[in-house]
Amino acid sequence: MTKPIWIKHTAQLATLASEVKGPRSKEKMSELGLIEDGSVWIEDGIVQAVGTTKELEERFADKVHEAEIVDASNHLVTPGLVDPHTHVVYGGSREREFEMRLEGTSYMDIMNAGGGIHATTRMTREATEEELIDQTKRRLDSFFSQGVTTIEGKSGYGMNLETELKQLRVMKKLQEQHAIDIVPTFMGAHAVPPDFKGREDEFVNQLIDEMLPVVAEEKLAEFNDVFCEKGVYTPEQSERILEAGKRFGLTPKIHADEIEPYGGAELAAKVGAISAEHLLKASAEGIKAMAESGTIACLLPATALYLREEAAAGRRMIDEGVSVAISTDCNPGSSPTTSMPLVMNLACISMRLTPAEALTAATYNAACAINRQENVGSLEVGKQADIVMWNVKNYQELQYLFGVNHVKSVWKKGVKVV
Ligand code: NIG
Ligand code: FE
Repeated sequence: MTKPIWIKHTAQLATLASEVKGPRSKEKMSELGLIEDGSVWIEDGIVQAVGTTKELEERFADKVHEAEIVDASNHLVTPGLVDPHTHVVYGGSREREFEMRLEGTSYMDIMNAGGGIHATTRMTREATEEELIDQTKRRLDSFFSQGVTTIEGKSGYGMNLETELKQLRVMKKLQEQHAIDIVPTFMGAHAVPPDFKGREDEFVNQLIDEMLPVVAEEKLAEFNDVFCEKGVYTPEQSERILEAGKRFGLTPKIHADEIEPYGGAELAAKVGAISAEHLLKASAEGIKAMAESGTIACLLPATALYLREEAAAGRRMIDEGVSVAISTDCNPGSSPTTSMPLVMNLACISMRLTPAEALTAATYNAACAINRQENVGSLEVGKQADIVMWNVKNYQELQYLFGVNHVKSVWKKGVKVV
């Protein structure tokens, strides 16, 4: 048995605890379960008690001498951040495209000329499993250093069975080699492979008949994602892929309405997707449909910034009753970052979320977007002790002092990793 850990005297403890189970929307996104002079008691990697320091002092009076004590005076303490949308496993790097975009070439033009996702696909196909593990581990360390303790990870830089499986197996192996939790998503339909241009339906058939069964059989993914976008997959093709995934037990997610309005948000609601991502150009009807179906909007303001586009209508979505989560979209093209704190800052600055909403979107709602709300996303008895102590006094300061890494310490399942 490891020593209990007692984090006490927090300047502010944002537990994110709530009676409401499931994705939060409207005013529920502002309820952070705040405790002044708060305390968390951890044993065996699990939160055993949360309350005021006085309450825990009394409750654990006869155990205090055994515990490792962490003095959190002057510090905000929150659950570990959750990043519900990443493309973290990839080969190579695309810094030249960054320059090209600044010189005026568009993201889609680069991709259609064989760069973009296709360039990373070539580099990922060429990389060995060991090389991918090595590169990815460095990114996972970087997530930890930014207070992120759980991430989702997508395949999609293979677009053939061999490399899609390689990416997913790399995630599985990383689960044994790294403390961060990775929730895997199959995204074989991340782009149309160049040799299938004009024969998209054939690729969709292949994905459904040859890839999905193996991914499901080897239990390599929980979710199934598709890039539903003009010039990539139509809503009809996307629907076929997502419905097929459902038959194999994979829950749908969608990259929707990123570049142009295309009915992606509507489709997400129709197929019962757990979340729709991007949504920069989502229509009013699509937003309404998502509010009604309870589909989470996973918004990626760092991607919008990086592509120099206007961010999604986060404020409006919350006001209309959509549950919002936020994410880095960590990938080598449109958002090469691992910084969820920056994403929270941008959620406030470019989407007008309040500081409290941004924290909910990066913790509890993010956990809901990857079906991990029973284990992570809030500090409640019985949940994983995934905890961040910040060099700020309260959650407003966390969002206000932007572009700075305020992380002081991070615990993953009760083990200090930063
Ligand atoms: O979510 N939009 C499609 N996919 C990724 C970008 C991947 C890349 O450029 O490599 C995204 O932004
Ligand atoms: Fe993405």
